[in-house]
Amino acid sequence: MLKDRYGNTVSTTSRAALAHYDEALGLIHLYRGDPVAALDAALAEDPDFGSAWAARAGLLVQQTDNAYREEVERSLRAGAEAILTERDQAHLAAAADWHDGRTMDGTRRLHVVARENPRDVLAVQFAHTGCFFLGMQTELRDGPLQALRAFDRGHDGYGVLLGMAAFGLEECGDFFRAETFGREAVAIDPRDGWVVHAVAHVNEMRGDLEAGIPWLADNANHWAPESGFAYHNWWHLALLYLDAGNTDEVLKLYDQRVRPNPASSVVLEGIDASALLWRLHLEGIDVGSRFQPLAAAWERCAEDAFYAFNDLHALMAFLGAGRGDLAERTLKAMRRAISVEGYNAYISREVGIPLAEGFLAYASGRYAEAAAKILAVRGIAQRFGGSHAQRDILTLTALHAALRGGLTATADALCEERLDRKSVG
Ligand SMILES: [Fe+2]
Repeated sequence: MLKDRYGNTVSTTSRAALAHYDEALGLIHLYRGDPVAALDAALAEDPDFGSAWAARAGLLVQQTDNAYREEVERSLRAGAEAILTERDQAHLAAAADWHDGRTMDGTRRLHVVARENPRDVLAVQFAHTGCFFLGMQTELRDGPLQALRAFDRGHDGYGVLLGMAAFGLEECGDFFRAETFGREAVAIDPRDGWVVHAVAHVNEMRGDLEAGIPWLADNANHWAPESGFAYHNWWHLALLYLDAGNTDEVLKLYDQRVRPNPASSVVLEGIDASALLWRLHLEGIDVGSRFQPLAAAWERCAEDAFYAFNDLHALMAFLGAGRGDLAERTLKAMRRAISVEGYNAYISREVGIPLAEGFLAYASGRYAEAAAKILAVRGIAQRFGGSHAQRDILTLTALHAALRGGLTATADALCEERLDRKSVG
């Protein structure tokens, strides 16, 4: 058997298949191009290449989108019939766990693989993504830091691990080291959108518009082309312009970069679009008819209820578009999801449903109820995933509810907290 670009044994003897697989790994790490096509090219060379099937299943299942369900299942079935190393078996089992709603189990399994095989950058990355969805902030940081023991400066994969570590450090509040790691990684490969993103988070957390806007705007020619992740970095830039009060630029970014195709039903894109329009909506800024096509794109997911974080973002679009019927359908589906086995039942009950009720209350003008519901669970909301920057929408909605509902003490408290945290810029 051959070894991949990091030295891990893989389940093929075809050098042509391996070349495509190695290409796919690079694309996955940089969130660029079409890694599924590269994996398919590897599998065309060697249909029994279990490592490629496992990577394909893992990549697709982490899109948190029911649209990929059949392709995930096809990859899992084909992988089970293919030649598998012990590591491949664990990757495949982790993807199956995720597919069946056992997100925590799958992520734990990937952590074991990564600890025992620190040069398995794919395991480190998939575990990292799992931690992101599960709000496991310390492991978001520690997984890549552990793996760095097997890499020296100049090694293939070193910068990718630095970038992951940078994001984990940022989510744990270690902004100085996050920025140091991030800047070193960007110097290694400025095309790495995840690394650029890690430093963008540092700037967002600090409220540092002066550093944050040029960081994204001036370097976009490196990170944006061919990036499957670009819409999210553009979203970060839009947040900074919103803080700067430049709503023309925010709407321009929405139309041209965050949501260039208003009919796109890619869930991860829809999350950022919902979050951006909702923030504008909170500020009382006229967003025209932008919520309507977004709500139409989310409609297919209205009753998915397999990841509460997605459900809440669908609900924002429905409420913004005045589609209370769809919002109610989503909330009912979330309530039904409590009885389904898996991690989503827990986060729906503890976090997702109280927040959905709070956002519905806000849209109905029941501001005191909205603020109370959101603030009651805000402190544990990391359990339904996302970043601090993404979950800031909870605080912002509670703050606007407090302002509109005349809850002066609550509004003052939340403003004070905000001013303290965003002390730079
Ligand atoms: Fe982000």
